[in-house]
Amino acid sequence: MSRMSEKTFAEALEKDRAGFNAKLESLLPMAEDGPFTTLRGAMRYALLGGGKRVRGLILLQVGKIFELSESESLPYAAALEMIHASSLVHDDLPALDNDDFRRGQASCHKAFGEGQAILAGDALLNMAMELLIAECHKSEQASAASAYMAGAAGQKGMLGGQSLDLLAVGKEPESFSLEELTDLQKLKTGKLLQAAYVCPALRAGADKNIVHDLQDLAENSGLCFQIRDDLLDEEAGTAELGKTAGKDRRDSKITFVTVFGRKAAEQRLAELEETNVKILASLEGKGLHIDWLYGMQRWLSSRRN
Ligand code: IPE
Ligand code: IPE
Ligand code: MG
Ligand code: MG
Ligand code: MG
Repeated sequence: MSRMSEKTFAEALEKDRAGFNAKLESLLPMAEDGPFTTLRGAMRYALLGGGKRVRGLILLQVGKIFELSESESLPYAAALEMIHASSLVHDDLPALDNDDFRRGQASCHKAFGEGQAILAGDALLNMAMELLIAECHKSEQASAASAYMAGAAGQKGMLGGQSLDLLAVGKEPESFSLEELTDLQKLKTGKLLQAAYVCPALRAGADKNIVHDLQDLAENSGLCFQIRDDLLDEEAGTAELGKTAGKDRRDSKITFVTVFGRKAAEQRLAELEETNVKILASLEGKGLHIDWLYGMQRWLSSRRN
């Protein structure tokens, strides 16, 4: 299997992030003075004020693997980051995780008030749907990719997972099985990551077997991402994370770490990584260039913020 050093990967990611940020900025420019200035300001604050852009960058890279042009991939990558930003605005609200700090600055509702933050989250989600709908007429494949992403955001996707996450608050950690917790994390975090890997393949009309492998790879990547998030909540500091550290246990959240402990979480991460390395080898055997995806897998299970 081809390899990229962690340093080379991190540098490439940083460069791609800067380019992608400029594209996002141009999709959501500052409003002229007028009735929508506040709402647009809150949307821009939530979308453009920091963030690693993991989902959008994965989508763009998978698009490259399938030889999509940037103009074919970009609407999906931008829509995905808008959906994700909307999920963070709502996740931080007092009715959900009640977090005052996000991406190294005051969370959206702290900066704009709860009402405007709720509306900005909705408006970002709606803007994402507008981008996805605008792609639908281009081809049957484009339409399938749009439908997949809309589904990943919704009731049977991220929002469904967030609902399960809320229902779990305060329950006895011992009452949660690995399966139950995995199902919750596959939805709340896994589904948007899955969209990042699968939508470009659908857009390009890739072979069903390849789409299937990507779906498995992405599901495991989503679990890695959330388990790492759960570990970092306990291990990292607020400044490094850019969001309040140590919050999950304090707020009786059900996470991989609060249910099974740090050691088990690290073991699970290693198992998932091993499985994904096998899936990547199988994809390489099917002719895909997986170098970047391999680098991403390593980054996912060792990231520090
Ligand atoms: C945070 O996602 C929410 C989770 C699913 C754990 P990220 O860690 O990708 O947040 P940003 O976009 O970099 O701020
Ligand atoms: C949130 O999970 C997942 C979302 C869909 C936003 P967390 O609640 O653990 O995310 P953070 O730690 O606040 O970023
Ligand atoms: Mg949450
Ligand atoms: Mg949270
Ligand atoms: Mg968290």
